[in-house]
Amino acid sequence: MAGSAIGLGNIWRFPYVVGEHGGAAFIILYLLSCFLLALPIFIAESIIGRRGRSNTYGSIKKLAPGTAWQWLGLLTIVSPIIILSYYSVVGGWSVEYLFKALAFDFTVPEEHIEGFFGRFISSVWEPIIVHTIFILITAGVVLGGVKNGIEKFSKICMPLLFLMIIIIVVYSVLLPGAEKGISYLVKPDFSKLTAQTATAAMGQAFFSLSLGVGTVLTYASYMKEDEKIFASGMGTAVADLLFAILAGFAIMPAVFAAGMEPGAGPGLVFDALPFIFNQMGHTSAPWISAIISIIFFLSILVAALTSAISMMEVGVAYLSEEKGLSRKKAVLLLTVFTWTVGVLCSLSFGPLAGVRLAGNSIFDCLDKLCSNWLLPLGGFLFTLFVGWKMPKPDVRDEFTNRGRCNTRIFKTVYFIMRYFAPVGILILFISNLIF
Ligand code: PFF
Repeated sequence: MAGSAIGLGNIWRFPYVVGEHGGAAFIILYLLSCFLLALPIFIAESIIGRRGRSNTYGSIKKLAPGTAWQWLGLLTIVSPIIILSYYSVVGGWSVEYLFKALAFDFTVPEEHIEGFFGRFISSVWEPIIVHTIFILITAGVVLGGVKNGIEKFSKICMPLLFLMIIIIVVYSVLLPGAEKGISYLVKPDFSKLTAQTATAAMGQAFFSLSLGVGTVLTYASYMKEDEKIFASGMGTAVADLLFAILAGFAIMPAVFAAGMEPGAGPGLVFDALPFIFNQMGHTSAPWISAIISIIFFLSILVAALTSAISMMEVGVAYLSEEKGLSRKKAVLLLTVFTWTVGVLCSLSFGPLAGVRLAGNSIFDCLDKLCSNWLLPLGGFLFTLFVGWKMPKPDVRDEFTNRGRCNTRIFKTVYFIMRYFAPVGILILFISNLIF
């Protein structure tokens, strides 16, 4: 679960969304969303998955046969496929940066680094080539069933990534001018809060914990009977949060130290990192900065791959189990689809930058559609399913491992799942539409 949750959502998306929504006040809303909305949904998905012992579609079919709830199964197949399309574009950016790190390109004189991301992203072919590489690796892993290898590799890379981020945080907060970035992250300015900010905080919490798409549900279907659902949800949420907050403290002080704009959007992290590694190369030795950057981008790539694989797997399982396609054909179909949509997203930073819907580029449109609407909608329906459709004794049984644990907190969690979380999401949806 941590493998799917920890990914580009923490390291790339969190810092730039914080920057777009004014800093510390957004982080407070994010924390509230994590524990009051996302965690209950995590638990709801886990209960359905372990009770149904199958993927979203299969579990719901088993727990509510012949009902309209089947549509929830379909929704959770569409969202990860759309996410994968643009996620793999950003995955491609990390491939490019790994190549740059390997070529020691971040330790060259400062003027070569300036504006690098802008030049790279607005070109036509380079981003498409690396996007293709990323999607082919994802497809290869899903097809070849070498998941075991990737998972073992990720067990080494996750702690390494953690270590690298800590080093970067320490370095970043010591940069001259970094104080402004730190106070941006810790001093809330509540005048900046709007309905959109609250929706964005909820969307980020859902995206980061892979909620509302059935990933948690599917993984929970493999959980043992004596594993504690609440503890595993809490553990994943805390680990995920820690990575995101650390990424914020790694990036934002450097953004201010470099005089960059915190609200610069999806390119923020990829603009800030070359600056950090470049400075590191000047103040320590170039080879130290090069090694740290190589391990850092390799780990990000692996974290991104474990998340991307979990997205593609959902579609492949559906197409092969429910539609009778061979695994090979299913992977091919999804690869062609996500690659094509991804190319459009990639071009929306260059030649297609002028194509806008309500002021948003193609990339931003798809990201907002998924994070702010489809994932919360999926989560909303999951809580309704557990809170209102499943019999309460079944829910209690599953949550408390048949009365063996967590019996005391069940009442509170059940109340949140039944009333607070769905009503909270609904209010955010409506206020986002009105304001
Ligand atoms: N949680 C992943 C991240 O933070 O990078 C993104 C993600 C994975 C979203 C899987 C949705 C999903 F189904």
